[in-house]
Amino acid sequence: MSNKDEIICTCNEITRREIEDAIRSKKLQTIEAVGNETTAGTVCGACVDEIYLILEEINGKVSL
Ligand code: FES
Repeated sequence: MSNKDEIICTCNEITRREIEDAIRSKKLQTIEAVGNETTAGTVCGACVDEIYLILEEINGKVSL
């Protein structure tokens, strides 16, 4: 099981839980949508791969 308090986006200090909750509650499909909702991935982009994996885990697939 993954640690929900793990910081995924260090630039904006966004945790796995915040990203997962946003994806589930707002039915987010894309990395861009996660960025708009949580600000994760909108600064240096280093966490984008991790956001992709979380989207894939929750939605089963990722639309780009
Ligand atoms: S770590 Fe997420 S934008 Fe830099």
